[in-house]
Amino acid sequence: MKILGLIGSPRENGNTATLVNTILEGAAENGAKTKVYHLARMDLKPCKGCMSCSLDGKCIIDDDMQELYKEIMSSDAIVIGSPIYMWQMTAQTKTIVDRLIALTCWQPCAKPEFSRLLKVKTKLVLAYTYGNPNPNNFDHYFKYMEGLFSFLGFDVQESIWVSGTTALDDIYHHSEIFERAKELGKKL
Ligand SMILES: Cc1cc2nc3c(=O)[nH]c(=O)nc-3n(C[C@H](O)[C@H](O)[C@H](O)COP(=O)(O)O)c2cc1C
Repeated sequence: MKILGLIGSPRENGNTATLVNTILEGAAENGAKTKVYHLARMDLKPCKGCMSCSLDGKCIIDDDMQELYKEIMSSDAIVIGSPIYMWQMTAQTKTIVDRLIALTCWQPCAKPEFSRLLKVKTKLVLAYTYGNPNPNNFDHYFKYMEGLFSFLGFDVQESIWVSGTTALDDIYHHSEIFERAKELGKKL
């Protein structure tokens, strides 16, 4: 069982990284192999909309997303973590989400076998942190994101989030989240 963590915060030791790493720790405790990427550290360019991927399922942009495509396709489960920036995921996270288009089935598919790519039903957990203290402030957005990833073919397991995190270590004021995050990882 391989579980991939994709952290979309530019703060490598921030709240989102702590949340994602706690989920992965839980998974590792149950024997999963885990691997983490910090998106802000990587060379990830935005989708050009060139549509080349509709012909052969391959993205022509030669950057670190090529490595992530392989990781995503070879993982049993993925944890995508992002802070909320201006009511949504960070630009780093959105960049890779747009680039997932290369793994989806275009209608009509130029090559039908590509329709399988995301139909493998990779499990997905969405993890967020945000500054607003209201724990329900972004419920609508989190539901919307679950809908998007289900549409893309992921087997969405759960969304988990921590509100009221501003300083790097504010997540530690929410001790209950650590148990929940670990359990979620174990369940994966
Ligand atoms: C550019 C920017 C925009 C932000 N926008 C929001 C927002 O719209 N709503 C919110 O509640 N918090 C917002 N925040 C706060 C972060 O979501 C919060 O501090 C988060 O926990 C940071 O995650 P990190 O510690 O992993 O970097 C924003 C922070 C930054 C830097």
